[in-house]
Amino acid sequence: MARINDNYLKLQAGYLFPEIGRRVNEFTSANPSAQVIRLGIGDVTKPLVPAVLKAFHEGVDDLAKRESFHGYGPEQGYDWLCEVIIDKSYRPLGVDLKASEMFISDGSKCDSANILDIFDLGNKVAIGDPVYPVYNDTNVMVGRSGQVNDQGYYEGLVYMPCTEENGFMPQFPVEKVDIIYLCCPNNPTGTVATKDQLKNWVDYAIANDAVILFDAAYEAFITEPGIPHSIYEIEGAKQCAIEFRSFSKTAGFTGVRCGLTIVPEELLGTTAGGEKYSFNKLWNRRQSTKFNGVSYPVQKAAAAVYSDDGWAQVKQIIDYYMENARIIREGLTAAGIECFGGINAPYIWLKTPEGMSSWDFFDKLLGECHVVGTPGSGFGPSGEGYFRLSAFGDRKNVETAVNRIQEKWGK
Ligand code: MLT
Repeated sequence: MARINDNYLKLQAGYLFPEIGRRVNEFTSANPSAQVIRLGIGDVTKPLVPAVLKAFHEGVDDLAKRESFHGYGPEQGYDWLCEVIIDKSYRPLGVDLKASEMFISDGSKCDSANILDIFDLGNKVAIGDPVYPVYNDTNVMVGRSGQVNDQGYYEGLVYMPCTEENGFMPQFPVEKVDIIYLCCPNNPTGTVATKDQLKNWVDYAIANDAVILFDAAYEAFITEPGIPHSIYEIEGAKQCAIEFRSFSKTAGFTGVRCGLTIVPEELLGTTAGGEKYSFNKLWNRRQSTKFNGVSYPVQKAAAAVYSDDGWAQVKQIIDYYMENARIIREGLTAAGIECFGGINAPYIWLKTPEGMSSWDFFDKLLGECHVVGTPGSGFGPSGEGYFRLSAFGDRKNVETAVNRIQEKWGK
């Protein structure tokens, strides 16, 4: 009989968001008249903007005609999409990239998981705690860890606690590591790294021959000037970092699926024989073998995000979500709940009232306010006692949710 990958059995529970969905379904079945407001998973609620939709339709229409039909595209994405992203999104930051360093994909969740294919299992990995759970779980799945301990930490993985005391910023790992995940703006805490802080990480990675996996899925939500949107704004980063970006939250593509990964040509790893080798070549090889590219109409739609109209329309929606974030943050703070984030990220990270555990607060919030959020402990043990609210809701719902929370907890 075929053996299963036993590493999957080390994972504690189901993936966080399906588990939340299960609990919410249970609640709504038992309480069919409850008006439940979902501020849990960071899923967008606004439709695609007109400029993007137009390009998407045109892409589909192209497929209907012999002369403009497209079959397989390049596995790495069409050059015209890569070039427009470089031109409109990286060059203004002072970052020069080649199209050959960019790989268009079906999203940064997949890429941040799949990237493990090009790293040896023997590499030591450092992960923030709390952080987007995909980093931890995918390392467990590939067999980089032992069992989980009582505190929720997996043997063999190195954790970087992000606490109120350290401003929710990961600190340098206590032992030598080879791969470091940084999520910035951070999911779930909403915190961002300054240029100096990122420079320290880049210097650290270079000094330790480590690779930074930099997840910048939320960079478009940065509102404060001077905060880096890309790790490549930091000198030396091309030697030590891979960056992930996503159209999901930026342009409402959570259901459409499009993201990208930058693997600079300067980024080298070491072979078993001790020679230097290009990660870009490996990722290219991996994508060409295991991926057939993102569909042509989706890439057309993605390119339209960077047209003048497209960006103005997309920016309006980003501002709308960030106004939601302000309403949540200020409304909860007024109710005496301590809040973090929500300024450079669409997530508000709050301290649970009355010292409740994250899941107890989840149940109470759902049961008494009919509001769904995400328990902080689902993002790592140091998230215990915290809770995440997403700003991607509809304005009326966000206001109602804040009112309900104020009625329940306001002094
Ligand atoms: C989240 O809520 O953390 C995200 O929506 C999950 C994701 O992007 O995969």
